[in-house]
Amino acid sequence: MSEAAEWKRQAAREALSQVESGMTLGIGTGSTAEAFIRLLAEKVSAGLKIVGVPTSERSAALCRELGVPLTTLDETPELDLAVDGADEADGALRLIKGGGGALLREKIVAAAAGRMVVIADEAKLVETLGAFPLPVEVNGFGVTATYLAVEKAASLLGLTGALTLRQEGGRPFITDGGHLIIDASFGRIPDPEALSIALHAVPGVVEHGLFIGLASSLVLAGPGGVRRLER
Ligand code: A5P
Repeated sequence: MSEAAEWKRQAAREALSQVESGMTLGIGTGSTAEAFIRLLAEKVSAGLKIVGVPTSERSAALCRELGVPLTTLDETPELDLAVDGADEADGALRLIKGGGGALLREKIVAAAAGRMVVIADEAKLVETLGAFPLPVEVNGFGVTATYLAVEKAASLLGLTGALTLRQEGGRPFITDGGHLIIDASFGRIPDPEALSIALHAVPGVVEHGLFIGLASSLVLAGPGGVRRLER
């Protein structure tokens, strides 16, 4: 196992220590969340009683394969705990998510959870968000108009940079919700709250990957061990 994979596992193990029998869980997406699902499945087969709401078809498939019991958010609209990865996090526990394309379900699930624990390797912690391109999920209808409106909304906040329509296999990437993703390379986002409000005001934007006020705890693993930042 590579060092990075081992750190993801360590962060996942720390999050798992907060899971108790009887809990309802939001289950994230991405390689770190996958490490969590694998450890969770071991506990489930050893008798842990939980039920999970997956944030993507990909995570749902892995849970099914490993025997992690699943429910839907409609059946279980209030969750005890969501555990998910992140593409970037800052010291105020603001996040960029959506590198794996699952940001919409991830945000809905995080908002439905009493607590959100974010698991990541140390390299994800940044001073200022924005080096990782911000995923913006948009409706396919009028995507060019939406693209221009996103560009304008950002530039009014002094943010410029390339906006690209995410591709996969030579075609536009389609999310689990049937939408498209624009990745916005702003470089630095000094005021994530203002950008969040501006993006939500653009018709055609379904959701964006800035997670503000959602993470309660950030578990970071790296060469120096595992540590937690709390909000
Ligand atoms: C999925 O859409 C993302 O929000 C993931 O949480 C993010 O990409 C982190 O993935 P890794 O754990 O693979 O870095």
